[in-house]
Amino acid sequence: MPIIAPSLLSANFLNLQKDCEMLNESQADWFHLDVMDGSFVPNISFGLPVIEHIRKATTKICDVHLMIVEPEKYAEAFKKAGADILTVHYEACTHLHRNLQQIKSLGMRTGVALNPHTPVHVLADILQDIDLVCLMSVNPGFGGQQFIPHTLVKIRQLKQMIQERNLHTHIEIDGGVTLQNAKSILDAGADVLVAGNTVFRSEDPIGTIAALKAM
Ligand code: DX5
Ligand code: ZN
Repeated sequence: MPIIAPSLLSANFLNLQKDCEMLNESQADWFHLDVMDGSFVPNISFGLPVIEHIRKATTKICDVHLMIVEPEKYAEAFKKAGADILTVHYEACTHLHRNLQQIKSLGMRTGVALNPHTPVHVLADILQDIDLVCLMSVNPGFGGQQFIPHTLVKIRQLKQMIQERNLHTHIEIDGGVTLQNAKSILDAGADVLVAGNTVFRSEDPIGTIAALKAM
């Protein structure tokens, strides 16, 4: 069964507690938390204080996706705020190996996100140090965008790299995941589905999460 990670970027920021309670009741596995700095991506979302509060509202895994430059400056603060998985962007890290060692030494699982134009083979010599690869299936910065079909090719390539190395790295797909395309994404080899609009714009978010989980 896939891991379902609803993205709270599409939640109601005026009543986050209600949306956290809904996710707690649902079959969602992880809370996907999108942090944007207005520099790495052309948008600003939320940061540490909001995550601290979300942490208190759930016992589920907090999967923090940092779309920020210089993530090493904030890794410790995100650990303190309650992150279980900390994902940094390949494109934002000159010293990715060092950044992953830092995340690991702080006691978090390591994630690396790739923008749509970044080939998966750039991870060939670092894959053994990564718990989760987040393949961006839209350009990062906004919820509610269209899935980029070429992502399916990248999933298959990455799956092969993981299997050749006998690793258990998770493949997470982030952006434009819908009830219509989820099956093909999973068939290609993904194991974690992020879904923002598909869950929070749905009339029955709990049912939608259950439908994704059952794919
Ligand atoms: C985009 C974020 C995504 C976003 C997904 O930069 O990383 O997590 O919230 O939203 P949907 O599922 O609506 O495309
Ligand atoms: Zn994300």
